Amino acid sequence: MSFVDQFQLAVPVIQAPMAGVSTPLMASSVCEAGGMGSIGAGATDAAGARAMIEEVRNHTSRAFNVNLFVHRSAQADAKREDAWLEFLGPLFAEFGAKPPETLRTIYKSFADDPEMLAMLLEMAPPVVSFHFGLPSADALSALRARGIYLMATATSLDEAHAIEAAGIDAIVAQGIEAGGHRGVFDPAGPDDALGTMALVRLLVRKSRLPVIAAGGIMDGAGIAAALDLGAAAAQLGTAFVACPESAADAAYRAALAGSGACHTTLTSLISGRPARALANRFTALGDSIAGLRPPDYPIAYDAGKALHIAAKALGEHGFGAQWAGQGAPLARTMPAADLVRTLLEEFENCRA
Ligand SMILES: Cc1cc2nc3c(=O)[nH]c(=O)nc-3n(C[C@H](O)[C@H](O)[C@H](O)COP(=O)(O)O)c2cc1C
Repeated sequence: MSFVDQFQLAVPVIQAPMAGVSTPLMASSVCEAGGMGSIGAGATDAAGARAMIEEVRNHTSRAFNVNLFVHRSAQADAKREDAWLEFLGPLFAEFGAKPPETLRTIYKSFADDPEMLAMLLEMAPPVVSFHFGLPSADALSALRARGIYLMATATSLDEAHAIEAAGIDAIVAQGIEAGGHRGVFDPAGPDDALGTMALVRLLVRKSRLPVIAAGGIMDGAGIAAALDLGAAAAQLGTAFVACPESAADAAYRAALAGSGACHTTLTSLISGRPARALANRFTALGDSIAGLRPPDYPIAYDAGKALHIAAKALGEHGFGAQWAGQGAPLARTMPAADLVRTLLEEFENCRA
């Protein structure tokens, strides 16, 4: 059975999980409009994720996706962290603030979070997806035994093979165009930076799993193109950031609607892992850090968030994590359900 038929989707669209930006209301609105909504639970704990799942279920009985981060556990390194804080010091000073004394690992990998696994086994959401890697074989078999459909992000053929070998049900093929964090399993390893078109085609031809195309898809024509490449559905993130249901603040929305949207850039400086963001003062720091490496993800994010808070308090919004993909200038401001209906109409027009 096709992915669309299995989940009775009216439109082959998954609203991307976007930790800190997508909301349960966005997910349920997308589900009710005929797409698949997602919750980004990567940056919360089991109690937070449980509350999100309950909120979605209060508004829809349709299939939705719960997304977890499965990064390699952060390695604390006091020397590297001190050097990073020293580098950021003058920026904090510009906003009359001091950098944090020490940096924390602000959230756990799903691989280290048995409470999250227990909660998922109890709540049994219809779909669970993984970003940055895969959990243990035991965790996967327990989730599968609860009838949960499993998906994982791949940015390369090697990652796709690992996903297939682990018995996952579908692959999210994330191209370099995509907004937010790149799902690469090993951020220190080589990255061929494959675009969505080449990656989707590679995975469709070289794996047996359904492939969900992600990266730079903003409208019905993009969805139709992804399906023409053999994708089972398209996963759209940036397209939903400007929806009223998103948690993006006013400055993020303004930046997305402004000229910066034409200049997205990949940076590891904000969180410690490569992610595509709207060009801003934070991403511009890349030009001035010769030889310096931010701490491990998500330790660096603790500093990044503190800097953003200090700057924002004085009206400087250029240090926010304003994630967006290369299609950002095509983002539309409309309720998520209207966006899903618009995507369906555009997609059908492409097929007419
Ligand atoms: C604001 C934002 C936050 C994101 N957060 C997550 C996340 O929590 N988990 C995840 O798997 N992907 C996340 N992504 C990546 C998306 O899953 C997807 O790969 C990407 O949005 C597709 O590219 P597009 O933004 O061009 O549509 C995020 C993307 C954005 C734009």
